[in-house]
Amino acid sequence: MSTTKKEADTRGLAGQTIGETAVCAVNQTQLIYRGYEIADLAANASFEEVAFLLLVGHKPSSGELDAFSEELAQMRSGLGEGVLSTVERIARETPDAHPMDVLRTAISLAAHEDPDCGDNGPEAELRKSKRLLATIPVIVGTHQRALDGLPRIESDPSLSHAANLLWLMTGQKPGEIAARVMDVSLILYAEHDFNASTFTSRVIASTNSDMHSAVCGAIGALKGNLHGGANEAAMEMLKDIMEDTASGDMTVDAWMERAFAEKRKLMGFGHRVYKNGDHRAGILRDWGIRYAEQENPDTRKWFDLGDAVQKIMLDSKNIHPNVDFPCGMTYFAMGIPVPQYTPIFVASRITGWCAHIMEQHQNNRIIRPLAEYTGPELLEWNG
Ligand SMILES: CC(C)(COP(=O)(O)OP(=O)(O)OC[C@H]1O[C@@H](n2cnc3c(N)ncnc32)[C@H](O)[C@@H]1OP(=O)(O)O)[C@@H](O)C(=O)NCCC(=O)NCCS
Repeated sequence: MSTTKKEADTRGLAGQTIGETAVCAVNQTQLIYRGYEIADLAANASFEEVAFLLLVGHKPSSGELDAFSEELAQMRSGLGEGVLSTVERIARETPDAHPMDVLRTAISLAAHEDPDCGDNGPEAELRKSKRLLATIPVIVGTHQRALDGLPRIESDPSLSHAANLLWLMTGQKPGEIAARVMDVSLILYAEHDFNASTFTSRVIASTNSDMHSAVCGAIGALKGNLHGGANEAAMEMLKDIMEDTASGDMTVDAWMERAFAEKRKLMGFGHRVYKNGDHRAGILRDWGIRYAEQENPDTRKWFDLGDAVQKIMLDSKNIHPNVDFPCGMTYFAMGIPVPQYTPIFVASRITGWCAHIMEQHQNNRIIRPLAEYTGPELLEWNG
């Protein structure tokens, strides 16, 4: 197919509305989860409240929130030995396996032990959503600790979802600011209408397949560096720039000029929908800098480098950073290993995926679009 400018604009379903959702609204100036704007949620809600909002459909009362948090705390110890020991075995035998692949495998295994696996009814799907939400930090933490040669530890019922994520990976209780920065990042990552991974999950769900299958597919879609994998790729790019400019032989401007000349995609920049900036990026940058300045001042330099790169991108290309750009620097300042950045994204986006899978199943019609054929005219096999 030729790719004239006009045709190229619609590739990748750009600009096309392909369905309805009550979960989330995205436009140039706002990101809204079930009626609540993202800046309001990031400033005033906890991740557990946002998770309840997305999964159940309304803001929780304090009683509902307590019950939900209690249920998650109990479910965190619900994974079978088979899943956890497989994760540890993969870390021992193939330590280079990407944590997103390991997480996908673990969820696939967890499906076999979930008593609701094949039930697509609303009650069963809500139970499965909570189990997935509760246990993903356990998988991520178990894998990281096995990579570090450490035994797995139990989740702590007194800690939040965000704090447990950090605890299960490091074995250290996070301080107040670390827990809040992680919490805010999870709120920002929780949902984003028909992004590639959520759309993938809806396509799979639309065949009457089950929630675990849809989540495994979504993890595969999120892993790519044009989508969730960009938070890891953005940090790796900054590390390259820091290294290449350290001796003073090359400036950041020169590095960027070279990248533009090579027509490289700069990771953590650009967005299919937000053309005037991703409002999540500024919120997370501020929290990341606050964390770095208070807890790890040596890492402030990454935000200064990020600001320099951001300015050049804006001045030269008029392209803004997306949320993955400050996320990379923030998680780096917190000492989290880079390959765990996208699995942490999963520990949040699981809420959005599950909300969409439930919505799809509750009003389902198989997603099956058409393609414009560009192959040869009709041929004869014996001709
Ligand atoms: C997010 C992304 C996949 C959106 O893709 P898209 O909607 O097809 O991109 P657009 O159509 O808006 O791109 C418009 C132009 O900007 C350029 N552009 C977009 N993002 C760019 C980036 N990160 N670096 C350099 N150039 C970029 C494109 O090459 C294109 O240039 P052209 O018109 O000369 O061909 C894309 O911006 C990208 O690859 N970003 C880097 C990966 C990333 O951060 N992903 C996380 C998204 S939240």
